Amino acid sequence: MKATAEACANQGLIKYWGKTDEKLRLPTNDSISCCLEALRTRTTVEFSERYATDSFVLNGTPTQDPRVVGHLDLMRSLGGSRLKARVESRNGFPASAGYASSASGFAALTLAGATALGLGLSEAELSRLARRGSGSASRSIPGGFAELVAGADDAHTFARGLAGPDDLDFRTVVVTVGAEAKKVSSREGMRITAETSPLFPARIGYLPGMLAAMRSALAKKEAARVAHLAETDTMNMHACMITSEPPLLYWAPGTIEVIRAVASFRDEGVVGYVSIDAGQNVFVNTTSRHAGTLEERLRSLPGVSQVLLSRPGGPARTTDEHLF
Ligand code: DP6
Repeated sequence: MKATAEACANQGLIKYWGKTDEKLRLPTNDSISCCLEALRTRTTVEFSERYATDSFVLNGTPTQDPRVVGHLDLMRSLGGSRLKARVESRNGFPASAGYASSASGFAALTLAGATALGLGLSEAELSRLARRGSGSASRSIPGGFAELVAGADDAHTFARGLAGPDDLDFRTVVVTVGAEAKKVSSREGMRITAETSPLFPARIGYLPGMLAAMRSALAKKEAARVAHLAETDTMNMHACMITSEPPLLYWAPGTIEVIRAVASFRDEGVVGYVSIDAGQNVFVNTTSRHAGTLEERLRSLPGVSQVLLSRPGGPARTTDEHLF
């Protein structure tokens, strides 16, 4: 009863920020993302009578994580199993890159755990299950460019692919400006924003048009338009965050340095647009033609500590290369 899976992290292009049900992790709005090939997590799960308790090792360090145990419980309940599990997980990107790995982590844990238990789930069912661990993880199951549809209930809320990773000439420069963990979790942050930001209702009203524009840009394979729309939505979501009570300002000085630099590169004809999730680091989305120039220029900025170039990533998949 051992299985291993690999999944990519993803960035929100039209962001998920707000829930209608915290326990089931039902999102307020549909969201669209792009998986990042350079940010992958591999996870091995083994259920066995040999284990008296669940254990979890992340990047070589034994870790207590109630969310992981809660997710194992959920999978056990689906499989009618009482067996405890050994879980090992490894991120294929430097810890110093400053990326929380909940999307890739819960997608890999879901696929590995469901496979080890022989649950025989479809892609939609796996995505639903991954969503219970972390909303954004649902989009790392289909991979590529995916949409998490905010259905009325658990059964209707899962992600589906809108475009494959190679359908668009899309590249992302992953720019690290700091590695500290965010002070307010996404779960807490989105609740505060939904409850207190006067701009949040306006965001909900604006989203259907943005989602339609993003679906259309993806269908037409317009990579630069996808990148531009993601920047517009980044500013909209962060405006809601900043106008929350208490204000949620995830940006660091380096974040603003990158935003300004990317705008000035664009004035010189280098196409790039920023996208920022709930943190200080920046995704700079572009096309293959401009990726190298952006990578080089961004690396030389004083506030930038690390730069990785990524293609869009594929779906979560199982592998025989177990971690133990
Ligand atoms: C800002 O998936 O981390 O990255 O469901 O509470 O675990 P939980 O939240 P999470 O939220 C990610 C939000 C975001 C935007 C996005 O990815 O769309």
